[in-house]
Amino acid sequence: MGCRVPPTDRHLLAIEGMHPPQIAALLDLAESYALLNRSGKTPRDRLRGRTLINLFFEDSTRTRTSFELAGKRLGADVINMQVSASSVNKGETLLDTAATLNAMNCDLLVVRHAASGAPALLARKVEAAVINAGDGTHEHPTQALLDALTIRRHRGGLEGLTIAICGDVLHSRVARSNIFLLTTMGSRVRVIGPPTLIPSQIDRLGVEVFHDMAAGLRGTDAVMMLRLQQERMARGLVPSAREYFRFYGLDAEKLAHARPDALVMHPGPMNRGVEIASAVADDPRHSVIREQVEMGVAVRMAVLDVLAQAGANG
Ligand code: NCD
Repeated sequence: MGCRVPPTDRHLLAIEGMHPPQIAALLDLAESYALLNRSGKTPRDRLRGRTLINLFFEDSTRTRTSFELAGKRLGADVINMQVSASSVNKGETLLDTAATLNAMNCDLLVVRHAASGAPALLARKVEAAVINAGDGTHEHPTQALLDALTIRRHRGGLEGLTIAICGDVLHSRVARSNIFLLTTMGSRVRVIGPPTLIPSQIDRLGVEVFHDMAAGLRGTDAVMMLRLQQERMARGLVPSAREYFRFYGLDAEKLAHARPDALVMHPGPMNRGVEIASAVADDPRHSVIREQVEMGVAVRMAVLDVLAQAGANG
C-alpha cells in the first residue's frame, strides 16, 4: 500500500492546485483503508515510531478525534495539544509554537486555526508534514476528500454528477474545498443559498449559483448541506432560524426536487431544524451522514500514510 500513490507534496494544505490523479490515488488508498477498518485488520506498524500532533486552535469533535483514531490505527504516537490550556493563551506566537514543535521532533502536524493561511505559515517553519484541518474560511481538504469518497462509493465515480452545496457558502471552508475537488474531478457543482451567504464572485470557481432551493436541487445526485456558521457571521445576514429553514432548510418536500436516489450529506455539526430537518438527516434512503464520519477516518489514514512516506523518502 502507498506505493500506488504518485508523489505528492510534502504537506496537505489545500485541494486547490491538486491534480486529478493525485486525488484519485488518495481516494483509492482511503477506500482500501475503509475496507481494512471494517475488517478490523489495520496495519498497526505502518506509522510506528512516528509522532502526530493535533494542534487545534478552534473547536472540533469529529475532525480531531478522527485524526487521532487514524494515527492510532496506523501505530503513530498521537498527542492532542490543548491549545486553550497552552502558552498560546499566554501570548506565545504561532512561530514560537512552531519552534517548540520542531524541538519535539514531530513528524505529522494537524492544524486547525481560525485564521486562513495559518497552516501554510506553520508549514514554512516546521520540519513536520502539515495537514490543514480547517483554516478560517479558506479550506478543509480532508473534509472534501471524505465527501468525495462517500459519493464515489455510492455512484462509482465523480465525473458527470451534479452536486448541490447549500446554505452558508460564504463562511464555509468545506464548500471551498469541495468546489475545488469536485470541479477538478469533473462534477458539475451548484451552490444554493440566500444572496447574503453566497460570495459575490463564486461563479469564477466554475459553479452555478441558485438562490432558490427547488430550482437548484432539480435533478441533483447529491445534496451537501452546510451549517449556518453564526460564530463567523456579522449580524443581520440571516433573518431568523425559522425563516431560514422555511426557504433554505432541507426537508422532504425540497429534497423531492433532487433525483429519487439523491444522497444527503452534512459535514457536521448539524443544526437540526435550521439547515436540515431531522427526518431527512436520519432518512436511511438518502442520508450518508454517518458514512461520511466513517470515511473521515479512512481518508485521514490515507493522508497520514502518504505524507509520512513522502517525509521518509525526502
Ligand atoms: C466543519 C468545519 O469545522 O469546517 N466541520 C467539520 O470539520 N466537520 C464545518 C462546520 O463547522 O460547520
